Amino acid sequence: VALPRVLSGIQPTADSFHLGNYVGALRQWVSMQEDHDAFYCVVDLHAITLEQPDPAVLRQRTLVSAAQLIALGVDPARSTLFVQSQVPEHAQLAWVLQCLTGFGEASRMTQFKDKSTREGAGPTSVGLFTYPVLQAADILLYQAHRVPVGEDQRQHLELTRDLAGRFNGRYGETFTVPEAYIPAGAAKILDLQSPDKKMSKSLPPAGCVNLLDDPKVTAKKIRSAVTDTGREVVADPEGKPGVTNLLTIHSAFSGQSTAQLEEHFAGRGYGDLKKELAEVVTEALAPVQQRTAELLADPAELERLLAGGAARAREVAGRTLAAVYERVGF
Ligand code: ADP
Ligand code: NA
Repeated sequence: VALPRVLSGIQPTADSFHLGNYVGALRQWVSMQEDHDAFYCVVDLHAITLEQPDPAVLRQRTLVSAAQLIALGVDPARSTLFVQSQVPEHAQLAWVLQCLTGFGEASRMTQFKDKSTREGAGPTSVGLFTYPVLQAADILLYQAHRVPVGEDQRQHLELTRDLAGRFNGRYGETFTVPEAYIPAGAAKILDLQSPDKKMSKSLPPAGCVNLLDDPKVTAKKIRSAVTDTGREVVADPEGKPGVTNLLTIHSAFSGQSTAQLEEHFAGRGYGDLKKELAEVVTEALAPVQQRTAELLADPAELERLLAGGAARAREVAGRTLAAVYERVGF
């Protein structure tokens, strides 16, 4: 039996992924390989929807992103791991889909409003406006059955499903209509300094633990995490968001359930939780950092792996695009 196909992408817009990216998304990329035919891409075309500082930086971040994915456990022999710009079919299909997307329909995408009005976002491009359509192309090119989605991406997946259905209705069955997939164990991680907001690279660095941070920096960020009033280490998302967040991170790395952790920390305070969490996280990240460094020390080999992934991706993407072109009348 063929495994269900899954597609996911991540932008190369930082020098390191952070704990939120890992616990909320990348950990599932690794586990989904077990029972899916996985296509994973570093979406550099999406990265330029917001102004990027420097071409050399973007290129390096693409490599660093790919290296971290492999270091975390994405296996390029098993999953198709590639860089989006190396598969020109993404942009080609996006154009066809843009011509099927209503202007009003695109205007209703709430993420555009968020991103275009965000502080320091710079001038707003048409690319940022149409980026959900490029995302639809990313998914539909591979006939993906499933797409892991967080809340912020639900609306985009709905658009993808609408576009697939519209194309199929107008031109004949061409695309698999993908389903949203909520992988087990995905959790939202909050900023360590402002536990009312999700951890994000766009917030000040003190609240965001990067996977490639120096262990001393990570320990300091965790020790300085904002906790809550009271002293008991118990999960209570409403009353103790800061402590609950630390328990969620601990659980993700240690594999212990919240109940087990509450028992483990019974009679001990927040200081003990932070101290142990710093150890758990830095110990888990040490081999990831080492493997990332090894991969980046041989960029030619890393680029060869990615070229192999792109070649595999193009076999599938090329077939889909050829069918689309033929049906549209090209
Ligand atoms: P950022 O908010 O730092 O810009 P992205 O928007 O690039 O991160 O997110 C990349 C992936 O990581 C997405 O799948 C997103 O849902 C996930 N993600 C980002 N931040 C978090 C978080 N704090 N908790 C859980 N998942 C997150
Ligand atoms: Na974001």
